[in-house]
Amino acid sequence: MRLSGKVALVTGSARGIGRSIAEAFSAEGAIVVVNDVGNDAGACETLAAITASGGNGTVEMFDVSDAAQVDAGVKNILAVHGRIDVLVNNAGITRDNLLLRMSEEEFDAVLRVNLKGTYLLTKTVTRHMMKQRSGKVVNISSVVGMMGNAGQSNYAAAKAGIIGFTKAAARELAPRNITVNAIAPGFIRTAMTAGLPEAVQKTFLAQIPLGRFAEPQEVAQLALFLSTDASSYITGQVIGINGGMYM
Ligand SMILES: NC(=O)c1ccc[n+]([C@@H]2O[C@H](COP(=O)([O-])OP(=O)(O)OC[C@H]3O[C@@H](n4cnc5c(N)ncnc54)[C@H](O)[C@@H]3O)[C@@H](O)[C@H]2O)c1
Repeated sequence: MRLSGKVALVTGSARGIGRSIAEAFSAEGAIVVVNDVGNDAGACETLAAITASGGNGTVEMFDVSDAAQVDAGVKNILAVHGRIDVLVNNAGITRDNLLLRMSEEEFDAVLRVNLKGTYLLTKTVTRHMMKQRSGKVVNISSVVGMMGNAGQSNYAAAKAGIIGFTKAAARELAPRNITVNAIAPGFIRTAMTAGLPEAVQKTFLAQIPLGRFAEPQEVAQLALFLSTDASSYITGQVIGINGGMYM
C-alpha cells in the first residue's frame, strides 16, 4: 500500500480523471477527500466506489476558485482528518471559442477555475504541509498548455500558467520537503472530451503516434507515482501523458 495512512485531497473528483485518481489513491490505502462543485451526486458516487472496494474517505464540496470556500473547506478537512499529505489540483473547465469571438467572461472563467483554483488550493494546503515538513502537490495541466490549440486560447493560457506556477512553487517549497509537479495529459476519454465533434476527435487521433486516446486510469497511475515516495527526487517537472502527440 503505497499511500497507507496518507490523506489525499483530489479536486474535481466527482467524475472523469479526478474520480480515477481518487479510486487509484484509495486502492493504495489513502484516505481520500473527494471535492467538486455542483455535482453532489457524482461526488457521492466517487465516495461510494471508494467505500465499496474497502477504502475510506469523505466528501468536501467547494468551488476551488472561491478563496473563502477554499479556506473553509480546507479547515473542515483538517478538522476531520488532521492532515493533508497529497493535493491534486484536478478541477478544470473549458469554454472553447476562436479568439476573435471569445468573450471576456469565457476567458476569465477558464483562468479562474484552472489557474486561480490551483493557486488558492496550493497556497492554503501547503501552509499546513510546511508545518508537517512533507507533502506532494500534483497539478493537472494539459498538452494544450505546451503546444497550443486553435479555439482554446483561454485554456492554453491557463494550462501554461499552471506549468509556470508549478515550477515557481516547486522552488519555494523544496526546502520544506514538499514536491510540486504537473501532469500534462493529451486526449483522455472523459465527459470533457466526449463533447468534441467527431471531426475534431479524428484530427487529434491522426496526431497520436500510439494511435488511440487514453483512459483516465492511465493518468491516475501517473498521479499516483508523483504522490508516493517512488518519486521523492522529482520536483518542478511537467510530465506528458499523450501517446507521443507532443515530444
Ligand atoms: N480529458 C482530457 O482529455 C484532458 C486533457 C488534458 C487535461 N485535462 C484536465 O484534466 C482535469 C480533469 O479533466 P476531466 O476530463 O476529468 O474533466 P471533467 O469535466 O470530466 O471533470 C472535471 C471536474 O471538475 C469539476 N469542477 C469544475 N469546476 C470546479 C470548481 N470551480 N471547483 C471544484 N470542482 C470543479 C467538475 O464539476 C468536474 O466534475 C481538468 O483539469 C482538465 O483540464 C483533461
